[in-house]
Amino acid sequence: MAAFMRKLVLILYLSVFFCAKTISTLPIVVNTWPFTNATEAGYNQFLNGGSAVDAVEKGCSRCEVLRCDGSVGEGSDPDENGEVTLDAMIMDGETMDVGSVGCLRNISSAISVARMIMERTDHTLLAGELATKFAVEMGFKESDLSSNKSDMMYKQWKENNCQPNFRVNVSPDPKKSCGPYNPNAVLSKIQNREDKQVSYLNHDTIGMVAVDKNGHVVSGTTTNGLNHKVPGRVGDSPVVGAGSYAQNGMGGAAATGDGDIMMRFLPSYTAVQLMGSGTSPSNAALFSIKPIIKYFPDFNGAVIAVNNKGEHGAACHGSGIGTFHYSVMDNPDKVNLFSVKCV
Ligand code: GLY
Repeated sequence: MAAFMRKLVLILYLSVFFCAKTISTLPIVVNTWPFTNATEAGYNQFLNGGSAVDAVEKGCSRCEVLRCDGSVGEGSDPDENGEVTLDAMIMDGETMDVGSVGCLRNISSAISVARMIMERTDHTLLAGELATKFAVEMGFKESDLSSNKSDMMYKQWKENNCQPNFRVNVSPDPKKSCGPYNPNAVLSKIQNREDKQVSYLNHDTIGMVAVDKNGHVVSGTTTNGLNHKVPGRVGDSPVVGAGSYAQNGMGGAAATGDGDIMMRFLPSYTAVQLMGSGTSPSNAALFSIKPIIKYFPDFNGAVIAVNNKGEHGAACHGSGIGTFHYSVMDNPDKVNLFSVKCV
């Protein structure tokens, strides 16, 4: 009897925690993972009179400060040289303005730099060293983004002969040796990404969509990218339509997962356009990843989608994820978690 009662309590708890309802009220903040502090920080902006742009910036920023899962912000996932670099974007679905930053060095608040690019330039995307220079001009402080953790990750990777490794068709054999590398004379087809261990375990992103009470949609992302990436690599997170997309009257979407693959298919753009033509958020998310699966059956990733009424859904794929959990806040009382089984 005691065991039955414990089971009943557990079922009741889970049914409250992992809600089945996907219809919400406005305003709403949805984020790609159960980073509930970030979702709450975003929603609090609405409670304090802030805009949807404030919600996405402050929500994502919270994860940068907390270093959510080690995959966001400074201090983790170093590149081949041991350096941590950041990617981020923010998109305003009312004006279609975007600010993106790729391979940002030495500035920890990438989402705020992205907002600065959106609001203080006519450009869309700045990258690398010169993005840092822009940020410093705008008042951001430079700091070393590495940590004991990232230094240890780098050391272990070097000791493991630089495995896993994202180089192909070079010598010495990147599956066995560290660089420096030279290009091979002959190209061979190497497309298996499973041996690169690209899963939510070695990289990820926070992607966020906020819709205010008037249906103003804003989306954003921030990440430190992919562990042991080739220096200079920029992932999907700051690519408009890949990492995220927002358009008033339609909705917003954000992606998480294997960015090198996802950015070739613009899943966030696809999901938003589908919602604009009446597709439900769950189906829009699903249809946005179907073309990826067709070409890359071992791809790991997920998309969240929110329409302008605050209905939301998600879809995911990959053995590295299995079941995908995302978080939603549409009332001042609590953040809810939702789950979808990966296809
Ligand atoms: N989705 C994050 C990345 O691949 O950089």
